[in-house]
Amino acid sequence: MTAKKPVLVISSGAGISAESGIRTFRDADGLWEEYPVMDVASADGFRRNPALVHEFYNARRAQLADVEPNAAHRILHDLEDDFEVYVITQNVDDLHERAGSTHVVHLHGELNKVRALDDETKVYRLDYKERTTPETVIDGHHVRPHIVFFQEAVPMLETAVSLVERADIFVIIGTSLQVYPAAALVNYVRRGTPVYYIDPAPSRVPEGVTVIRAKASEGVAELARILLADKQKQ
Ligand code: OAD
Repeated sequence: MTAKKPVLVISSGAGISAESGIRTFRDADGLWEEYPVMDVASADGFRRNPALVHEFYNARRAQLADVEPNAAHRILHDLEDDFEVYVITQNVDDLHERAGSTHVVHLHGELNKVRALDDETKVYRLDYKERTTPETVIDGHHVRPHIVFFQEAVPMLETAVSLVERADIFVIIGTSLQVYPAAALVNYVRRGTPVYYIDPAPSRVPEGVTVIRAKASEGVAELARILLADKQKQ
């Protein structure tokens, strides 16, 4: 009989994909310096200028063809040998999946999908280089990016919360913790659950959180050493 694996829940943000060459949002050279966030990533912005929003996400999607998962994504996949790993990501890229992670929940949507404007249950997968505009019709429907815009609800939140409530270990990686409700997930861990935060420029976190001040590749390698050593002791 094999022992049940501990449940390791990861909450990742843009920082985990930075070493793959995807820009973060709020760092000095971040995307929101170049594009006003409320123009390209809000429900109002989409209503005002849908062509601009389609174009913004077309460019982000196209970039996925040119990037690869990095060591941080890959180590999280490797940890599945010893842990039941669930990744909750704010990222709209697919690098966790491409590194092999089995359970990935996208809180803010996915770049390689669009959905019908008149029926949110109709979701369509696109190739990286496919482009959409307000005029694009798929399966008889006009479509929009499958992205959670600011001012919209976060449909995967309940799923994410129930995973965090199950966590034996909770790890936050590469996020400025500025955007809610993602930033509040840590509040759902059970009392006594070890919590780690990996980020080269960490934001303030509650007392008791172990901060690993490092880039994701190094920080996740360090985390894996700690978790595997702890597991051996048990
Ligand atoms: P941010 O751009 O706000 O934060 C990026 C974080 O990554 C910062 O804390 C950096 O210090 C850290 N970072 C930078 N390089 C790193 C590296 N090599 N390794 C690890 N960490 C690194 O991105 P998020 O917190 O993910 O939402 O942003 C959250 C949401 O805001 C996004 O999902 C997006 C955005 O608006 C929507 O558009 C809906």
